[in-house]
Amino acid sequence: MMNDQIPAEMKLPEMKDEDYVNFMVWHRGLAVPAARNMDDPEVQRGKELFNQMGCAYCHRPSWQTGDDMFTDPAGFFADGDPRLPRYPNQKIWPYSDYIQHKLHMENDIRTGWCRTTPLWGRGLSAICTGRSDRLHDCRAQTVIEAIMWHGNAQSDARRTVEKFRELPKKDRDAVVKFIDAI
Ligand code: HEC
Repeated sequence: MMNDQIPAEMKLPEMKDEDYVNFMVWHRGLAVPAARNMDDPEVQRGKELFNQMGCAYCHRPSWQTGDDMFTDPAGFFADGDPRLPRYPNQKIWPYSDYIQHKLHMENDIRTGWCRTTPLWGRGLSAICTGRSDRLHDCRAQTVIEAIMWHGNAQSDARRTVEKFRELPKKDRDAVVKFIDAI
């Protein structure tokens, strides 16, 4: 839609450079929600299975971050610009390798390469938004559906999903509870 076609009540005030800086400071200050219920034995059981089945191969649990000397490709901020907060050398728990894999899903996105979704905080989506859609195009309504979509014959995650399918219901529930907790 061209700018002059946007109804007046929907137009946002123009963003000044100062607003942009403030927005970036706020944005970099957003925290990741803390994991919840990690002492629950069912959550612990889910964690054990998640690692045993090989989910953690792509959903890599933790990373040590570097010196956070960000570079702004637009050149608005200098490298490591003191106006923006930095968080160097943190141990983080995103549960992703940040790499693209092929899951060979039906009606896949173009080329079929899709980055491993970081699982941290995703368990709060139902509480925060009232919905728990999963996967890049929201095709899965639940965690279980998302896992099952990983499992096509040529998928890089085929073997882990087979292991998940073979678990008794109690253990499958524990894996979901773990994912919802992180
Ligand atoms: C070969 C790498 C790989 C393995 C192994 C793997 N995953 Fe994934 N996972 C992905 C990718 C890539 C996506 C993103 C797919 C998309 O959005 O279409 C994903 C997405 C997900 C999601 C949806 C996240 C969201 O909120 O949208 C869940 C839940 C998940 N994986 C759980 C698991 C579990 C549990 C296992 C083990 C049984 C597992 N994954 C094994 C690569 C993998």
